[in-house]
Amino acid sequence: MKTPEDQEVPKVGVEILGRTFQVPAGITAVDALWLTGHALERGVGCLGGVCGACTMLYTTPGSPNFNVGLGCRTVITEGMSFFPFPQRGRSRYRYDLSEVKDPAGELLDHFDRADKCRHCHGCTNVCPQKIQVEEAIELAGKGEFEKAGEMFLPCVMCGACLAECPEEMEPNHILLYARRGFAARLAPPPQELERMAREIREGRFAAAMESLIALSDEDLRALCEEGRG
Ligand code: SF4
Ligand code: SF4
Ligand code: FES
Repeated sequence: MKTPEDQEVPKVGVEILGRTFQVPAGITAVDALWLTGHALERGVGCLGGVCGACTMLYTTPGSPNFNVGLGCRTVITEGMSFFPFPQRGRSRYRYDLSEVKDPAGELLDHFDRADKCRHCHGCTNVCPQKIQVEEAIELAGKGEFEKAGEMFLPCVMCGACLAECPEEMEPNHILLYARRGFAARLAPPPQELERMAREIREGRFAAAMESLIALSDEDLRALCEEGRG
């Protein structure tokens, strides 16, 4: 028997992992998976479009193409068919950034397939964050780590480009390396941070810190309240 809620909420028909369901309109794919009893133990995390754990593949009526989206941000529509993106293993590449002296020059030492791009556009087409992954990989290959890293900023490390790449290049890990390498070795040092670190080393805040440590819990709490007000 239908409850009053069932009668009020419009429903849409969707296909999840090959089975059809009626679910409330306007909910996300992750909500639909949960509502229909699918266990999501690994394929979900932040629910805010940040962690990249909930990547899914979906089709819509009348379009032969597969789309890739974040399940927690993709609102389902009538006739949509979707399933969670297959889970991926860990990257096979390892490097210790503290030992990298010349990030661009050492790219191929750490990613031995970084120059194997066949320009198939697969990584760019599949990226749910609409990053021009192929172009960023090309820039990284030319040593332009700053530009490549900037393009990579919206990445949520969902791994779709990694799974898609026919050359097993692991584009997302190459671009993460470019970003890390740029920040660690190539970017100008942050002057304000350096100044503060120097002043801390020289003891500028030592007395203030001592007086804070000497405060009772009650006085410390009062001071915090004062600071908030
Ligand atoms: S660059 Fe790759 S890992 Fe990052 S969001 Fe796009 S597809 Fe996902
Ligand atoms: S999927 Fe791999 S081979 Fe294809 S364009 Fe992207 S990096 Fe190049
Ligand atoms: S659950 Fe984190 S991006 Fe969707």
